[in-house]
Amino acid sequence: MLRTGQVFAIAMAVTSIPVISRIMFDLGILGTSFARVVLGVAVVEDIVLYVVLAIALGIATQGPGASFGLPAVLGFRSERHAEAAALLPGAEIAIEPTLVTELIPPGRDVLACGPEPMLQAVADMCPGAQLAWEAPMACGYGACYGCAVEIGGELKRLCVEGPVLLAA
Ligand code: FES
Repeated sequence: MLRTGQVFAIAMAVTSIPVISRIMFDLGILGTSFARVVLGVAVVEDIVLYVVLAIALGIATQGPGASFGLPAVLGFRSERHAEAAALLPGAEIAIEPTLVTELIPPGRDVLACGPEPMLQAVADMCPGAQLAWEAPMACGYGACYGCAVEIGGELKRLCVEGPVLLAA
């Protein structure tokens, strides 16, 4: 049985592509072949790790004797984009205009990542949800507020307080 620490370790291994991109942009190396290789590897690694993370969460949330299943709900803009969901059999799929928030099962622990409006909607529905926010980071140690997001009327610096924050 996977423990919370193992799931957390897998989640921490996921790269932050926006941060890497911003650093390369600031260094003026974003258009180089080095940057393309690094970002390409980061994208592939993230896809694999998100699948592994979803499977790990599925295993970690199963009770003794329960059949294997994944509690993932994935949202896509079109049928074509939803083809990526084949990597995660058993996941619930929402395609616009259906919203991911319409498919969140009641009474489950919720971990969400995605666009900010979706995270706000999940926060409104599930106050105990853990939300992975993304924002460009400049200083990386809490001084500039460049990475701040407003949550519940309060500014949270993702570099030192996040990037995963409780909804409420
Ligand atoms: S990046 Fe400067 S406060 Fe977070």
